[in-house]
Formats: sequence, structure tokens, C-alpha cells
Amino acid sequence: MLLSLALVGFITFILWRLLSEEENPLDKLPGPKKLPIVGSAFEFMRMNPRDLFIKVRLFAEIYGDRYLIKILGRRILHVHNVKDVEVVLAHSRNIKKSKPYTFLESWLGTGLLLSNGAKWHKRRKILTPTFHFNILKSFSIVMKERSKGLVEKIKTLENTDVNLLPLISDYTLYIICETAMGTQLDSDKSAKTQEYKSAILSIGKLLFARLTRVWLHNEYFFKMHSLGKRFQKCLEKVHSFADDVIMERKKNWKPGQSEFTEEDSVGGKKRLAMLDLLLEAESKGEIDLEGIREEVNTFMFEGHDTTAMAIVLGLMLIADHEEVQDRIFEECQKIFPDAESTPSMSDLAEMKYLEAVIKETLRLYPSVPFIARAITEDFMLDDLLVKKGSEVSIHIYDLHRRADLFPEPEAFKPERFLSGEAMHPYAFVPFSAGPRNCIGQRFAMLEMKCVLSGICRNFKLQPRVKGARPALLADMLIRPAEPIYVKFIRR
Ligand code: HEM
Repeated sequence: MLLSLALVGFITFILWRLLSEEENPLDKLPGPKKLPIVGSAFEFMRMNPRDLFIKVRLFAEIYGDRYLIKILGRRILHVHNVKDVEVVLAHSRNIKKSKPYTFLESWLGTGLLLSNGAKWHKRRKILTPTFHFNILKSFSIVMKERSKGLVEKIKTLENTDVNLLPLISDYTLYIICETAMGTQLDSDKSAKTQEYKSAILSIGKLLFARLTRVWLHNEYFFKMHSLGKRFQKCLEKVHSFADDVIMERKKNWKPGQSEFTEEDSVGGKKRLAMLDLLLEAESKGEIDLEGIREEVNTFMFEGHDTTAMAIVLGLMLIADHEEVQDRIFEECQKIFPDAESTPSMSDLAEMKYLEAVIKETLRLYPSVPFIARAITEDFMLDDLLVKKGSEVSIHIYDLHRRADLFPEPEAFKPERFLSGEAMHPYAFVPFSAGPRNCIGQRFAMLEMKCVLSGICRNFKLQPRVKGARPALLADMLIRPAEPIYVKFIRR
């Protein structure tokens, strides 16, 4: 009896959904086959992340510039042409993040990355000064020290094939932890600090595992599953560590402490952490302690894996192109008097060729391969009405590999960024663009220049297999499917 009632209920629900669906212009777009209610969900069933990455690339090829994927009532418009990307990213009100981002909420709260509306505007205003030139100068002291440490570490691994990711992600984690919270993860060997480090690394892996298991997208199922339980344990450690650091720093903090002058940078006398600037904002009543916690966690998330991936893939490409290595080395030799001197901010600004190498790396391998928005207000993409309630995915990866924007798109050619030819402002958007662009982009460029120049001044790099490129995995961050190895030989 109960079973028949449930069946009748289910059929009524399906009929109601089918009949109550409003006409939507997006439905006329091409895209994978759509069934009633479930939409294209079966297309993705049992797909591994590697095949999924390839499938999404194929969709762009088969269906063209705009295509629609419908899943369980969600309409997701996918775009990768420069005009559409500009309209979506430049929109001042459609700035809400869509479904995949919600997995991060229990960690980051509604900090800058995930917040929306008035809260986002307020936080963006408070946090923008955190990346002011003088503050970055203070952060660059940490970056230079850590880069030196990395070079020393690589000296111990010379002439062997080194698995890049674990090596580099340790260093980007140390840099962001010290600049965001003022905590040195490498020298502080206390159990709590080491636990924090491994919890942060595990959280990344668990989020990825969740993303690729559709049935765990549901909050309840995830919480009940062993992955969800492990995630919860890691969250507790990460939150409690961040809370302790915030309270400790707050105890010793005095108003005005976060001012940073030209003199302070000499010899690295004064070290600011982003946390100091947040405490300053708290003293002015602009943010509360919960807000500080959200932003510290947001910086830890956004500021560590993104740069690690870019550095790893950059090293892979540099290793594969001897002429590029030589040009980076020559550029460094012109700028630095000797091999030991550390780069100043103006030295780093002078590294134009290295900058082009980093940009070309981010073109081929944008650390954030797609951005997704939940549409809160109807808007027009040329003649196409995109209604409130739909979602838009912008595929930065596909945009960056368009032959009409970047001839020979698969080739690694840093010169593209040195030609002086005007480029459409939305053709190259590894840091996104428009109101929700990456607030940390200058920080990231500085860090990547510090690390890559340090390595290329000291070592010649050799790939394990010339011309090899890793398969990639579908994830919120670009992720190679297999380890990337490079050999370092002392110059
Ligand atoms: C190579 C390195 C990096 C890349 C490629 C990158 C890329 C991006 C992209 C594409 C977005 C937009 C995301 C979206 O709209 O969903 C973003 C946002 C953001 N990034 Fe980065 N990022 C990098 C490094 C950093 C660093 C080092 C920090 C902090 C220290 C940072 C902090 C943030 C924050 C807080 C946001 C949210 C901004 C907002 O919504 O107002 N990022 N990043």
C-alpha cells in the first residue's frame, strides 16, 4: 500500500515538473541529450575525473561556443568565447557563486570567495588594502626567505627525478601561512602545527573526492559517509588552529601596528600578516572575530594550491624548453650582481621575460579552470536571454586554448605576451576579471617570480620524458592525473 502511494506520488511529481516548466530560451541551445527530470545526469554517471575532463573539452568542440547541460532541474549554460565571458564576468550584480562552491562553505564560511551581495562588497572594501604595494613588500620578505630555503632543499635532491607537487606545495603552504597568520609551519614542529598542515592537505583531497562522487554532493549523505566524517575531523583541527592563532595574535596586538613604512622592509625588520590588517579592521568595528576567521581560512584555501599548481606546471614547461630556461637565466644575470643576492621588489618587477613565462603557463594551465555563477537577475548575452535561476560556467581552460585568440594554442610560447600586440581584455583571464577578480593576483605573481627565478638561477631543469604532458582531472583546481618529475642540475 505504502509503496503504491509512493509510486503515485513520484509519478505526480514528475508530471507536475514536466507541465509546470516555463519556456526557457536556453533550452534551444545544443548540448548533451536531455531526459525529462534527470536531464543529462546519465552522461556523467560512473565517469572518472580524468575522462570527465576530456568529455567537457569534447563538448566545447562538438557544441560550439554556448551549450546547455541540464541536471535535475538545474540549467547550466557553458561558455568559452570571449564576448560571452566579458558579459558574464563584467556584470556588476550577477556575482553569486553556484553549487560546487557550497562544498567549501563549512570550511570558509561566507568569506570573500563565497559571500555575495552587500556582505561581499563590504569585505572586498576592507580586504583590498591588504594587497597594497607596501604590504606586499612586507610579504615579499617571507617569499624570498622561503624561496631560498626551497633552493637549499633542491640542492639536496640534485640529479634525481623529483616529484614536484609535494615539494612545491609545502613551500606555498609555508608562505601563505606566514603571510596570512604570521605562523611558521616549517620551523614550528609542535604537534598542533604539524596536524594543521596535514589537515589542510587532507581537506583538499577530500573536497576533490567529494566533487567526483555525485551521490556525495548531498549534504546529508556526505555527512554520513566516511569521507564526510574525515572531512569534519580535519575541519575541527583547521578551525581550532586558526582560532588559537587569531586569539594569540589579538592578545599582543596594538592599534596602528599594521602600518608599514619603507624603512620597515630593510632587513625584514617588520613582518606583517594579513591577520594584523584584519585586527586593525576589527578595532574600527568593520569586521568581527567570526569574519576574521572566515577570511583567514579563505586566504589559506585560495592562496596555497593555486600557486603550487602554477609553479609545478611552470617548472614542467620550463624543463621541457631549454631555450626558455636560458632566457630566464640571462634575464636574472642582468638583474642580479651575484648568484646569492636576493631580489628586491623592483628586481622582480624587471623580470619581464619570466612574467611572460608565468602568463603563458597560466594560459595553458589556468589554476582555476572554470568559474561558475548562479544567476540572480535576468540578463542578455547578445540576443540570448539568460534567466534568473540558471547557472553559467565559464571555461577559462577552453577560452585560453582557442586558436582564434592564441594561434597554435597548444604550443608553449612566452613571446605571445611580449609582442606588444593588443589582446582582448577578456581573452586571458587566469585571475578572472571584473568585480570578482582575484584579489591575490599581485601576491601570486610575486610569489611565483620569487620561486621560479630562485630555481632557474641555480639549476638547469630536465624533464623525465621530453614533450610529455600530464592528463588532467576535472576539479575546481587544475590537477594533473599523475606526478610530474623534473631533474635539477646545479648551474
Ligand atoms: C596562480 C595563483 C592564483 C590564481 C590563478 C587565482 C585565480 C583566481 C580566480 C580565477 C578567482 C575567481 C574565482 C571565482 O570567481 O570563482 C580568484 C578569486 C580569489 N582569489 Fe585567487 N588565484 C590565485 C592566487 C591567489 C592568492 C595567492 C590569494 C590570496 C593570498 C588569492 C585569493 C583570492 C580570493 C580571496 C578570491 C575571491 C575574490 C572575490 O570574490 O572577491 N588568490 N582567484
